[in-house]
Amino acid sequence: MDHRHLSQDEVNELIHQSHKAKEFSYSPYSKFRVGAALKTRDGRVFTGCNVENACYNLGVCAERNVIAKAVSEGYKDFIAIAIASDMEKEFISPCGGCRQVMREFGGKWDVYLTKLNKSYEKMTVDELLPRSFGPDDLSKKVSNIPSNH
Ligand code: THU
Repeated sequence: MDHRHLSQDEVNELIHQSHKAKEFSYSPYSKFRVGAALKTRDGRVFTGCNVENACYNLGVCAERNVIAKAVSEGYKDFIAIAIASDMEKEFISPCGGCRQVMREFGGKWDVYLTKLNKSYEKMTVDELLPRSFGPDDLSKKVSNIPSNH
């Protein structure tokens, strides 16, 4: 089945799952809980949360965690990700690093930024990260660069 287009029910369900995933957030340092739910083209849903560390800089965002979970199980064709936090008044907005990690798997898929009440704003990865650098760019360099560069 082709799930390229999510129904309103599927959108609501993905958002619900991102908020459920947030419950597992391990964030004793920031106390900022984040959850993410990632939908693959064939309809599978992966969930993830942020996982912090006493060595602060080793913490991992929910978005990167859920993408690593999916890719490491053989799924990398994504159609949507929903992101949840406990912010009441703001839509959670993914950090720059996570935008780049999303972009690795294409720019034309949807990111649902949500509030605590599960209202949302939809943006594409390309909209969140314009003029991005991606896998295709690696093969666009000219080839006659001196070997000591
Ligand atoms: N965080 C995420 O997991 N995703 C976001 O979109 C924003 C920030 C996490 C990282 C850290 O564990 C905590 O939220 C505070 O920055």
